[in-house]
Amino acid sequence: MSESANSGDAKAGIRLNRFLAMAGIGSRRVCDELIQKGMVQVNGVIQVEPATRVVEGRDQVEFQGRPVNLVHETHYYIFNKPRGVITTTSDPFGRPIVVDFLPGDARIYPVGRLDFDTTGALLLTNDGDVAYRLTHPKFQIPKVYQVLVRGNPPEATLRRVEAGIEIEAGFVARGEINGFWYRGGNTEVRLTLREGKKREVKRIFRTLGHPVVRLHRESFAALTVTGLKPGEWRELTPEEVRELKELVHGH
Ligand code: URA
Repeated sequence: MSESANSGDAKAGIRLNRFLAMAGIGSRRVCDELIQKGMVQVNGVIQVEPATRVVEGRDQVEFQGRPVNLVHETHYYIFNKPRGVITTTSDPFGRPIVVDFLPGDARIYPVGRLDFDTTGALLLTNDGDVAYRLTHPKFQIPKVYQVLVRGNPPEATLRRVEAGIEIEAGFVARGEINGFWYRGGNTEVRLTLREGKKREVKRIFRTLGHPVVRLHRESFAALTVTGLKPGEWRELTPEEVRELKELVHGH
């Protein structure tokens, strides 16, 4: 599988933020920040404008003083994230991070995030373009969660998620309740979300008065962790990669 900068208009080149994302530096949003912080040079000059256009082969791009080259081989992994692992590519406090579990040669980064104590399906890739699209709300990528909440909310309370719940000023979280089961003093809820806000599931249920006790993501973009123990991963099949790309390019 290959991803080439020259697939666009070769004369005009591509935007610097996209170039860095395609080189596996981080998601496009992360790359915007790195550029704005002055950590990126083009032809020896710091560039703080993410929309600056660069041409592969002509322009020399450097991040933290090291040359950046486009990644022409892309990798996609589905990982069953264990509890107690952070969804970042580095941690100043030396806590376990998700990329520690993946093969070490390529620069791979997570698509979106799961909290420290959340388990389950996490996609990781060095394909910055696909990663960016998968996290963009426009594409409505389904994420299915198994949520254990405190208490026994009546159905009408749970259905409020379908009408929409304001979890922060100006942001209404919406999801589909796919089922719920009372388990003693707790309730297990199966919930599908299509937009990813930070700690969205926990904030939804805190707002409903039934805080989350345990959270597991069953699938991301229909990719499940079936057959993977916590801490295990597998590479997506070419067919799965094709479907993933269709999801985000078919619009
Ligand atoms: N929502 C949360 O609250 N936490 C996660 O880890 C994922 C979604």
